[in-house]
Amino acid sequence: FAPKLLAGKKLLLTAGPTREAIDPVRYISNHSSGKMGFALAQAAAEMGAEVTLVSGPVSLTTPARVVRINVDSAQQMLTSVMENIQSQDIFIGCAAVADYRFADVATEKMKKSAEHMQLSLVRNPDILATVASLTDKPFTVGFAAETNNVEQYAKGKLTRKKLDMIAANDVSVQGLGFNADNNALQVFWPNGQQTLPTTDKLSLARQLLTLINQQLPTK
Ligand code: C5P
Repeated sequence: FAPKLLAGKKLLLTAGPTREAIDPVRYISNHSSGKMGFALAQAAAEMGAEVTLVSGPVSLTTPARVVRINVDSAQQMLTSVMENIQSQDIFIGCAAVADYRFADVATEKMKKSAEHMQLSLVRNPDILATVASLTDKPFTVGFAAETNNVEQYAKGKLTRKKLDMIAANDVSVQGLGFNADNNALQVFWPNGQQTLPTTDKLSLARQLLTLINQQLPTK
């Protein structure tokens, strides 16, 4: 396999779900396994990059030569990303970040009593958009998990979040995307696009990183 295409490059990426606490024993989260992000981290390290992986709670082993930082919540993920963003060449937001967190996290376990209960949520910061709006930003790549109008929504996110590239996957297709071992991606950048057909996540990661490398600004 391939030469060390990314030798000398620094790459930071997020992976996995985030957990948003309700009280000390409960949280909301999602079904992200972290497999795509960990495959990207492994492939990038194999291609010679210096890789930092900010991961939500997942049960995956850290790929060789990858520096891993574990976080729980979206806010922790943002803090960790911002602490490490300096001098990165590439940022990939692969994490399934919770869009909302609980407005007030109870400090003690909540007790059941009333038949109905309401919890109030507030928006989480958008980590990807925050990185993409930095003045000296790295080449910034987002993911978009969609169930319909994949191209339209992905291109919308590319523009709105000021990304350099977006990799979209159709999560309504059985056996692909969330928690699966295989995936397929439609990749868009401001003046081009490419379809990466269904394959295992490591092969797909290598193809996506090759595309990213082709689009990197030449310094
Ligand atoms: O807008 P949407 O959540 O679909 O965008 C998905 C992309 O944005 C992914 O790359 C995800 O990692 C990133 N994201 C983020 N912070 C959020 C929400 C999404 O970095 N709070």
